Amino acid sequence: PHRIRPWPYPEYLAHRGGGTLAPENTLAAFREGTRYGYRAAECDVKLSADGVSFLLHDDTVDRTSNGTGEAKALTMAQIARLDAGRWRGAAFAGEPMPTLASVAAHCLAQGMALNIEIKPCPGRETETGAAVAREAAALWQHAAMAPLLSSFSVEALRAARDEAPGLPRAMLFERVPDDWRAVLEELGAVAVHCDHRELDEARVREIKSAGYAVMCYTVNRREDAERLLAWGVDAICTDRIDQLGP
Ligand code: G3P
Ligand code: MG
Repeated sequence: PHRIRPWPYPEYLAHRGGGTLAPENTLAAFREGTRYGYRAAECDVKLSADGVSFLLHDDTVDRTSNGTGEAKALTMAQIARLDAGRWRGAAFAGEPMPTLASVAAHCLAQGMALNIEIKPCPGRETETGAAVAREAAALWQHAAMAPLLSSFSVEALRAARDEAPGLPRAMLFERVPDDWRAVLEELGAVAVHCDHRELDEARVREIKSAGYAVMCYTVNRREDAERLLAWGVDAICTDRIDQLGP
């Protein structure tokens, strides 16, 4: 009941917006992805202290901005003042951490598909899954292609399912566990998204023959991407948008 056939998303997704060619999870990254002809991207989304969905991978802002501290302790106004580009080079100075709303505007204007990885701060899994799904459903309500919601957190995906059942969901695993099917069925998920280094062809066949899609992260060598696609993998998430892809 939860299958999507044929898989509607592009084969290649730019990891964190634009891979490693620009500061991760910024609009500069998305612009870079668009410049390289990418028609899909993945990004990490969590909640500010005041409940706004925005892009950030880590639990703290330390590594990827000029600020310090836990993301869940900062309001969106505080986050918006931080520089999330300068650490990747002077050319990116002043680039902010974008809201999900501003990324939606970019994707909708460019006709770009988005995989929203719900990346909750610890302890905020349910709240984050619900809030991101609610915002995404509203932002993409008139879009031709729904955003794909994914997460390593079962709690976040359960909350997303309850909040916006019509948005497609993918379960993220490092290594796909033997009970993958029960997890997907419970979540009403349409795809598995996993670390390509932990995947073999037999597992791809098993998942695909059950009618689900398979996505792989983070594939940076052309020979790996081609092997995975030959196995039947539906989508590849890459940092090397200059080496692989459309
Ligand atoms: O969504 C796939 C991939 O992004 C998961 O790993 O740590 O890069 O968010 P990570
Ligand atoms: Mg991610």
